[in-house]
Amino acid sequence: MTRKVMVTGGAGFLGSHLCDALLAWGDDVLCVDNFFTGQRRNIAHLMSHERFEFLRHDVTFPLYVEVDQIYNLACPASPVHYQFDPVQTTKTSVIGAINMLGLAKRTKAKVLQASTSEVYGDPEVHPQVESYWGRVNPIGQRSCYDEGKRCAETLFFDYHRQHRTRIKVARIFNTYGPRMHPNDGRVVSNFIVQALAGEPITLYGEGARPAASATSTT
Ligand SMILES: NC(=O)c1ccc[n+]([C@@H]2O[C@H](COP(=O)([O-])OP(=O)(O)OC[C@H]3O[C@@H](n4cnc5c(N)ncnc54)[C@H](O)[C@@H]3O)[C@@H](O)[C@H]2O)c1
Repeated sequence: MTRKVMVTGGAGFLGSHLCDALLAWGDDVLCVDNFFTGQRRNIAHLMSHERFEFLRHDVTFPLYVEVDQIYNLACPASPVHYQFDPVQTTKTSVIGAINMLGLAKRTKAKVLQASTSEVYGDPEVHPQVESYWGRVNPIGQRSCYDEGKRCAETLFFDYHRQHRTRIKVARIFNTYGPRMHPNDGRVVSNFIVQALAGEPITLYGEGARPAASATSTT
């Protein structure tokens, strides 16, 4: 039996690579995205694939489909993008998680949440270990992302405890690579974009650690 796998945020940087991998493993892939930061060209090569389907949809609205697995990646990852409409960012994480967990509960699908190292806030512990609960701020300019992801994790674990939903939560740390949005704005991709353009590379702050304005984290 071919598995039906849904990838929300599938037209984004990580989601499009995940779609590639799932198709290579033989799965049927339903890619769901509202193209907020995702780009058509990230999935253009998949459009004619017989096991690939694309649905333009915002995860803050309920979705009724039959699937075996859900990868919930929908959410802008770069500060430039998630601060553009912070209320929508929180809605995407929280209401998106509720909608995906509701779908997983109904279909008995396994569901993975793309969480973030930002759940640790501005941590005092390096490197961060899972037993560390973080040093967090609910009212800052980045809180729409950080707190949205924290609340999504809470929902995932409560659906597991309350409804036995099969969950996975992956706390992703900064990731870079092909298909990343060129205006991502984070330090390493800024270096790469400037280097590719033959421009001087901007050194942020004192060069010892990123300044707040350098938007170094996701
Ligand atoms: N890239 C990283 O370094 C990193 C680090 C930590 C966590 N993550 C998480 O991984 C996931 C993917 O990140 P990415 O780097 O590929 O970012 P990305 O911005 O390239 O991809 C996010 C995708 O979600 C889509 N999206 C946003 N809001 C949506 C909504 N309401 N409904 C439907 N689709 C929506 C966007 O259009 C985009 O295609 C995100 O959840 C992000 O928080 C990424």
